[in-house]
Amino acid sequence: MYFSVFQQRGAPLRKELLVILAIAITFPFSALVPRAQNPALGVHAAGDGLALTPPMGWYPWNEFGQEPQNEKLIREIVGALVSSGLKEAGYTYVGPDEGICFYRDAGGKLTSNLDRYPSGLRGLGDYIHKTGLKYALYTDAGTRTCSKAMPGTKDHEFEDMAAFAEWRADYVKIDWCNTEGQDTAKTYRKLYDAQHAAGRPIVHSLCSWGEGEPWKWAASVGHLWRTTEDICAPGKADWSRAMKIAAANEKLYEAAGPGHWNDPDMMITGMNGLSETQNRSFFSLWCVMAAPLMAGNDLRKMTPSMIQILTNLEAIGIDQDPLGLQGRIVRRNGKVEIWAGKRLFDGSQAVLVFNQGAASADVKVAWPDIGLAESESLYVRNLWTHQTSGPHRGGISVRVAPNDVALLRASKTSSFPVPPIIVADSYLVSLRAAGMTAQTLTGAITVKTNGSDELPLWEVRPGLPSWLSVAVRKTGKSQTLTSTASTAGLKNGLYHAVVRADNIEPVSGKPMSVLYYDVDLEVTGHAGGRERN
Ligand code: GLA
Repeated sequence: MYFSVFQQRGAPLRKELLVILAIAITFPFSALVPRAQNPALGVHAAGDGLALTPPMGWYPWNEFGQEPQNEKLIREIVGALVSSGLKEAGYTYVGPDEGICFYRDAGGKLTSNLDRYPSGLRGLGDYIHKTGLKYALYTDAGTRTCSKAMPGTKDHEFEDMAAFAEWRADYVKIDWCNTEGQDTAKTYRKLYDAQHAAGRPIVHSLCSWGEGEPWKWAASVGHLWRTTEDICAPGKADWSRAMKIAAANEKLYEAAGPGHWNDPDMMITGMNGLSETQNRSFFSLWCVMAAPLMAGNDLRKMTPSMIQILTNLEAIGIDQDPLGLQGRIVRRNGKVEIWAGKRLFDGSQAVLVFNQGAASADVKVAWPDIGLAESESLYVRNLWTHQTSGPHRGGISVRVAPNDVALLRASKTSSFPVPPIIVADSYLVSLRAAGMTAQTLTGAITVKTNGSDELPLWEVRPGLPSWLSVAVRKTGKSQTLTSTASTAGLKNGLYHAVVRADNIEPVSGKPMSVLYYDVDLEVTGHAGGRERN
């Protein structure tokens, strides 16, 4: 039995964690299985449609810690996300973690640290958006961030969330350092209210490392929550610690679903100290657990095999499945685990065989192990070798090397579709109108899916400002959203709108994560006054 009890950078072992450990030792496995969240409390994502599949992206902490996080690094990583093919595989959210990004000025307002981020945090966000990626920022729910180098949000929740909205963040991770005396649920509820008041749809990533048992209540205030302490100290990938984290996270499977995810922390794949086999196994585990796929390695220095692992669309498809089930261990034989319980959007089943032993294992996966009748005849797809076999009656046997996995998909049919993987060329349309006469300006963004099926037309939410209209055109798996702005009747000034488009995954009929993008319109040279919208 594993349970994660890690110390937070030299902090004393917390009393609550000792209690959890004591319970873990005293009670059998099943006693730790959480109850599902009470749906009556509502789910945050029901309103904003964000993160209906686990967020994917990159965060600097695991590899870099605080140094050298700065604009240059983030821009280089953005370049690497694009050139390596990770962006094409669905990795979207990127930005600094605790990277000394801002301070609080004398008036109490969060202000960009221009020494480290010369374009300012808004400028960096615009750059990221123009690349077709989404902007992630970091803060803390207490008085200071963990290193104490940045201010926390305590007693500034509303101003700070307004600042994140002004910087156009799409994702905010909210850490839990320096929160002595604060109640987890109440604090994160207040931060949710503050985010809501700020008016920008933002993925809300809670980071209390499992304190306050967020899996029991946080679906109504956030989109994901860390379930354990940090997966590694910066720059020091730790395989056994990662396996303990996976074991703790596995038990919480009932709490996960579209828009509300257990977060076992950023990935350590591709960091020094992990073998290719371990990278593949780690990635498979995170996919089967429907974990957020936030890469944590230095994307500028990846081997071809590392890129292949992180961009394996068939594995990513398991993680990004629209049903959003978190797989769990259904059978354990010594050091060999069979993970299942993850029915997929097309009716197929994900199965992971994980061998943590020192010798190769021959493992029989019987269909009843994964909840199916023995009489079933199923095709089996190996998601790492990309080969389909079968139909197999009753089950299948696989040989798995030490530390390795067999990541499989079992289906009644021999086709194994990949669910939508959304990739945009930009999330920012910038329009400028200069001159006395009214003008009509257009800017387009193209959004495609790298999943197997074409999507229905994205549906633009009504309620856009009167100067803006959006038309959607479809060419196969690509769709173009053309924004048209008319300056007739507008005064000089800056105008801004966030466009929301909704869609449905065509195989399961499930709603997809909402597509948001920003439109800026600058009007100059018109007769009359100035206005800011
Ligand atoms: C905590 C979080 C980490 C990282 C650091 C930054 O430890 O759990 O993921 O954000 O803070 O200090």
